[in-house]
Amino acid sequence: MSTPNESANAIFEPATLGPVELRNRFIKAATSEGRSPNGRVTDELIAYHEGFARGGVGMTTLAYCATSPKGFSAPGQILMEKESLPGLKDFTATMHEHGAKASAQLGHAGPVATRQQIGETPWAPSKFINPTSFNYCRRISKDEIKTAIREFADAAELAAEAGFDALELHFGHLYLPSSFLSNWINKRDDEYGGNIENRSRFVREISQAVKERVGDDVAIIAKMSMTDGIPGSIVLPDSLQTAQMLDADGNVDAILLTQGSSVVRQMWLFRGEPPLAGFAEHMPFPFNVGVRMFGKPMLGDFEYHDMYMYEDARQFLDKVKNTKLVLLGGLTQREHFEKGYNEGFEFFEIGRALLREPDMIQKIQEKPGYRTLCDHNNYCMPSVFGKTHCIYSPDYAMKAEDREIRPAETAGASERIEG
Ligand SMILES: Cc1cc2nc3c(=O)[nH]c(=O)nc-3n(C[C@H](O)[C@H](O)[C@H](O)COP(=O)(O)O)c2cc1C
Repeated sequence: MSTPNESANAIFEPATLGPVELRNRFIKAATSEGRSPNGRVTDELIAYHEGFARGGVGMTTLAYCATSPKGFSAPGQILMEKESLPGLKDFTATMHEHGAKASAQLGHAGPVATRQQIGETPWAPSKFINPTSFNYCRRISKDEIKTAIREFADAAELAAEAGFDALELHFGHLYLPSSFLSNWINKRDDEYGGNIENRSRFVREISQAVKERVGDDVAIIAKMSMTDGIPGSIVLPDSLQTAQMLDADGNVDAILLTQGSSVVRQMWLFRGEPPLAGFAEHMPFPFNVGVRMFGKPMLGDFEYHDMYMYEDARQFLDKVKNTKLVLLGGLTQREHFEKGYNEGFEFFEIGRALLREPDMIQKIQEKPGYRTLCDHNNYCMPSVFGKTHCIYSPDYAMKAEDREIRPAETAGASERIEG
């Protein structure tokens, strides 16, 4: 939206997202939680999100909900099928009891998946070898494209039936929809490849199918990468055009602007030091040695600074006319949200800082000068291979001896409260 917002306190006031009213403008970002053995919502997963709901977010995002068994990207994710409905209903009812809305992130991993995880060759727009997992991915047919679109719509309908207020369509991080947007992975010569109009066709068709299926009752958010730090893959001028097409189509209520890829140079999304020792913990020999030696060039090493997606995200404000824009990336202090809101962003998603402090929204509301505690050590990243958590969380026994960051030594040092 191009009109700058004004009142600073407005970030804590109710705001509408499509057909839904949130109690404020803060949304817990998707952080694949790993608490769903057998693809189902568990009480433990609900309790985990209760922390964010009680802690004051306007909406929390249940992640990651695979639209198909081929769509998993990490262990312990949710499968959107009928048998998951009771757990999904419990989830939304509990969030609503706490006054928070519930969003479901719907995704298909595509070239991010591994054969080991999904039991078959992963999908991609064209033949592709994932340079991190070394998995060969096969080119999907047009019929399979139609299947994938229908599966998104089926998953959306299930989420709506379960009482979700919003759906977040994962069009980022080189997952299947995002890989169609990439000039690096998408080498198709049909109407789904080539120029950016063709490469955007898949995400537009998913958005349309979802909208047609759920109608006007549920808010729809598209999470798309602005850039992915990979030469010739997803670049800003293309992404601006994709966003404009989604805006003109009118099938999504908001666009959540993310960055990066889960295929290679993963740190473009997170910034800061790659948590190599944490990844090595989850890998057998010799991969654990390999990741320590070659992890940095593969994952990338990009300096972290607060609001690191802001400058790119601002480029979208003038171009996207009717669809609300959601800012993400290193948003940790009250002044970041005020700055974003004054510039024209309507909502804010927060990942790591909420893992560190599920009640950070209450804290910054009550004490405007409060300095939140996340230090972006990024060790929450490899925790997705188990139960996603912040390494400072008191709820987890920590195997810290192999880590470069040892919670016991640093947790106290990072406690700081101002204002
Ligand atoms: C542990 C972890 C798991 C994540 N899992 C997901 C996911 O399932 N889907 C997704 O779109 N993004 C995922 N992300 C990315 C976050 O949604 C967010 O885009 C990123 O962390 C940047 O926001 P932040 O600076 O507030 O952490 C994950 C991030 C972390 C730290």
